[in-house]
Amino acid sequence: MADPFLSIQSVRKSFGNVAVVKDFNLDVDRGEFVSFLGPSGCGKTTMLRMVAGFEQPTSGTIKIGGKDVTYLKPNQRKVGMVFQAYALFPNLTVAQNIGFGLRVAGKPRAEIEARVKEMLGIIKLPDFGARYPYQLSGGQQQRIALARALAPSPALLLLDEPLSALDAKVRISLREEIRSIQKRLGITTIFVTHDQEEALSMSDRIVVMNEGRADQTGTPFEIYNKPTTRFVANFVGTLNVLKGTVVNAANGQVKIGDDTVMLDSDLGGRKAGDSVSLALRPEAVSLGRNDLRETSVAATISEVHFLGSVIRVRAKVGDNSVSLDTFNDPSAPPPSAGSAAEISFARRDLMVLDD
Ligand SMILES: Nc1ncnc2c1ncn2[C@@H]1O[C@H](COP(=O)(O)OP(=O)(O)O)[C@@H](O)[C@H]1O
Ligand SMILES: [Mg+2]
Repeated sequence: MADPFLSIQSVRKSFGNVAVVKDFNLDVDRGEFVSFLGPSGCGKTTMLRMVAGFEQPTSGTIKIGGKDVTYLKPNQRKVGMVFQAYALFPNLTVAQNIGFGLRVAGKPRAEIEARVKEMLGIIKLPDFGARYPYQLSGGQQQRIALARALAPSPALLLLDEPLSALDAKVRISLREEIRSIQKRLGITTIFVTHDQEEALSMSDRIVVMNEGRADQTGTPFEIYNKPTTRFVANFVGTLNVLKGTVVNAANGQVKIGDDTVMLDSDLGGRKAGDSVSLALRPEAVSLGRNDLRETSVAATISEVHFLGSVIRVRAKVGDNSVSLDTFNDPSAPPPSAGSAAEISFARRDLMVLDD
């Protein structure tokens, strides 16, 4: 493998005696788009700020392009950063905002003007140069912030929850736009978010963070389908957790509600009578019998939420509550709360969780 472009090695950060980043390791390839995903307070911003140079690690090393930058100032690292919101200079025009970094670097006026024009084209706001931030929507402001970060041609682009203050539609269109600009420029990018859908849809790889640690690093497919910790399984996607009781450990029989089902997975040394927690993704569950899903159990519909193209159903299986999605079918009414039903799933989709 080629040398990583960004390398974060054994980084720790404490404020006073509180450790907020604990032994963080990550190698990022040139041109890669990596997200830090985790709940509020898990240390995402702190880790990003150490990469940017706004904070120094308590210990560990950060390298960019093979060079140790751990103790360099932000302006010595060639990084561009975009923050959550309202970070434009309100008293400067759009063009002055975008050209800010180049002006600080003492670039000639003609070069700044040309670059600002180019950046306005890239973010598809060619005629917005003379406006002031207050004359822009939130989504437009974030595109300007992106252009401002990219104008000095940084080696690394750092984005800290840049979409979280925007409304849903704008957020989704900006996801695609950021990703396509990032790919076009081939710029190595770290994107911080607490929104799993954002991370799953945009990233080459995701680092799921939990209390200052990188719990799991992998592609969106790996993180979603093969979570290695219970935290990741819970945080990424909606997870149904079913409590069962082992009936026969040797052949994987477990009782869930009133039914006994067979598992493919190993019961990890559990014996008959032991309890076991099983995870099941909503999309792995069908309402009624399903030819592809060999196992079915009795359930009672408890909630029905009509969301348009999708109907989200909650069903009770014994004491367990199972969430599942079914597509709207205009020719068939949705199930009603309180009715009896069966739900089905494939054995291999039941994941045994560590307790
Ligand atoms: N300058 C600071 N001084 C003291 N504590 C801080 C400082 N910056 C962040 N923290 C604490 O570090 C933890 C992680 O914060 P942060 O990195 O902002 O998390 P996230 O971005 O994942 O929400 C939080 O508990 C926060 O209160
Ligand atoms: Mg943060």
